[in-house]
Amino acid sequence: MAIRHAKMVAMALQLGDTVPNFTQDSTEGPIDLCAYAGDQWLILFSHPKDFTPICTTELGAVAKLKSEFDKRGVKVLGLSVDSLASHAGWVPDIEETQGVKLNFPLIADHDRSVANLYGMIHPNEDNVFTVRSVFVIDPQKKLRLTLTYPAPTGRNFAEILRAVDSLQLTDSKKVGTPVNWNVGDDVIILPSVSNEAAKEMFPAGWKELKPYLRVTKQP
Ligand code: BEZ
Repeated sequence: MAIRHAKMVAMALQLGDTVPNFTQDSTEGPIDLCAYAGDQWLILFSHPKDFTPICTTELGAVAKLKSEFDKRGVKVLGLSVDSLASHAGWVPDIEETQGVKLNFPLIADHDRSVANLYGMIHPNEDNVFTVRSVFVIDPQKKLRLTLTYPAPTGRNFAEILRAVDSLQLTDSKKVGTPVNWNVGDDVIILPSVSNEAAKEMFPAGWKELKPYLRVTKQP
């Protein structure tokens, strides 16, 4: 029984996977994920439904953060399973109530092809509409971070930017970021780096609280 059930469930995308490409309609014309992202980072996020209050606030917040995404070389791409005509009716409400123009494309996933490809519909939560999924995709099109929130809980896009900061730092330096880290805070030298190698990489030194817990200034 359990095995039969497992066969019926599509494999969820996992961290490190190369994400599947797609082409779908959007408020800025047909979007091909790979072409849209180019060699930049990409945040693909779903919201459950047009003309809903929490989604309206989220899309306004993402639009207001454009300069923060640009600074990090990140493109954003929203999605809902509503039609283009529905998006066209709703987008002016975002500007009117949130005081900002939508400045990124919103996919109209009317046939749910992208939502199904990315596992954005969780049938035990809702059979028709997506949950609030976030996929952070790096320039090599690898999935680097996911978040899943239920419909009534709006996301914190400042936290998503913070996570992007960590991903970008940990890609370029052999460090990890500790609990509640923000840009400029001390970081952790990865356990895979020997003390010998660390002397070269972190000439200002580090504080060794334990042999596996070495704290240094953010490089
Ligand atoms: C909202 O965005 O407000 C929302 C969407 C779907 C269900 C509940 C709330």
